[in-house]
Amino acid sequence: MVELAHHQIACIEALKAHFAPAACLTGTEVPKRNEADTSFLPPIVPIAVVRPDTPEGVAAAVRICANHGVSIVPQGGLTGLAGGAHPIDGAVALSLERFAGIEDIDPASATMTVRAGTPLEVIQKAAADAGFFIPLDLGARGSCVIGGNLGTNAGGNRVIRYGMAREMVLGLEYVLADGTLVSGLNKMIKNNAGYDLKQIFIGSEGTLGVITRAVLKLQPQPGVTVAALCGLSSYDAVVSLLGAARRGLGPLMSAFEVMWPDYWKEATETVPGIRKPIAGAHQFYVLVEVQGLSEAVDTPRFMSWIEEQFEAGLVEDAAISQSMADVADFWRTRDAAGEFQIVLGPHVAFDIGLPVKSMDDFARECRKRLSDAVPNALSVYYGHIGDGNIHIVALQQGAAKQPSEQISRIVYETVREFDGTVSAEHGIGTVKKPYLGFTRSKEELALMAQLKKALDPNGILNPGKVFDWPQ
Ligand code: LAC
Ligand code: ZN
Repeated sequence: MVELAHHQIACIEALKAHFAPAACLTGTEVPKRNEADTSFLPPIVPIAVVRPDTPEGVAAAVRICANHGVSIVPQGGLTGLAGGAHPIDGAVALSLERFAGIEDIDPASATMTVRAGTPLEVIQKAAADAGFFIPLDLGARGSCVIGGNLGTNAGGNRVIRYGMAREMVLGLEYVLADGTLVSGLNKMIKNNAGYDLKQIFIGSEGTLGVITRAVLKLQPQPGVTVAALCGLSSYDAVVSLLGAARRGLGPLMSAFEVMWPDYWKEATETVPGIRKPIAGAHQFYVLVEVQGLSEAVDTPRFMSWIEEQFEAGLVEDAAISQSMADVADFWRTRDAAGEFQIVLGPHVAFDIGLPVKSMDDFARECRKRLSDAVPNALSVYYGHIGDGNIHIVALQQGAAKQPSEQISRIVYETVREFDGTVSAEHGIGTVKKPYLGFTRSKEELALMAQLKKALDPNGILNPGKVFDWPQ
């Protein structure tokens, strides 16, 4: 048990005086779940877990901590892989879990107003029940919450059609580092009255403000979803198929996911319960999905598009969905990545971005460098190729302790040489902090530090995340 400093004890006393017992947990009351996110960093016990159930409560928590010089780590569903929500020594965890629920669905504006602690899946279901569609979707949908999705500007499976999380937000409410509550719950698509402030907070990983509520843009529910799981013979064919999909399927294309054969092998042979939609061995596996307006029009259109790709020699083999169950089956081959933690054991996971044309050259080079440097290295490649975003799962098979730093350095140095980004969708947190400069210029980093200084001069909000400040 770490001895608390005077200012920390005073802060806890002030929090306890302000909040009801269920909203402020300390010492042995601190729940296990708040001690770590999904980044595999060693757990840290926060000095207190504050769980307000109103925006004013969030503001009060920040104000009390700021007044006592105690740092805050905002927490949502704790599904992040980069350490953004992982506790920091001597800090208070500010969990939004008790501020959950949907406040408003406005069919005329096609918007939904949600509280930060609402699980993504709850939001998706509520949208569907109201005859709408929330396109944000990712493997952690059942446990991640919208506050974290926006705090990290989450990507996911349908970015190619609908954009990243930030593109789904019309309005935002957040608490600043001094406890000021700023409400900008705008419902209009067009609002050019001054700076678009919300964008500074979305993707700031809790370092500039704490998101409390958001107005999300609702989409019409797709009339039909149809997908194909295709086998291809080369990466050139993958790039040509992506071009053909952009031209032939246009704005209806809702996913273009690619799996390299090393990934395919692990996903379909190691992860239990995954059915291979196509037999045979191919150099690449592509999941292409369309969300159309009507079955009568869009299913035949998709079928004839696939026909054309066979005739053009781009596709070697393909399974085409006959039902939503088939679509779900195809996605299972891609979502199998979520099981790698169990079947492959501890590993290092990457969400790098690269120009689409260099992805396979990168994968070859990276695999080679890892194999040369790390005995029994395994690295598998897959991801949202249509978005220029590739995932890698890499490990030293059979190692008692993973050489994570060595693996990370090799991968990120290769990313830098290929002009990529060290994070396409999961954020920087602490895990990728040493590599931020591989992707951002000196001037960009200086501007980020300036922004941090302006919005959080005392470094209260999630210090040591994204980059170290003061620099
Ligand atoms: C995925 C998540 C991990 O694409 O980003 O599987
Ligand atoms: Zn992803």
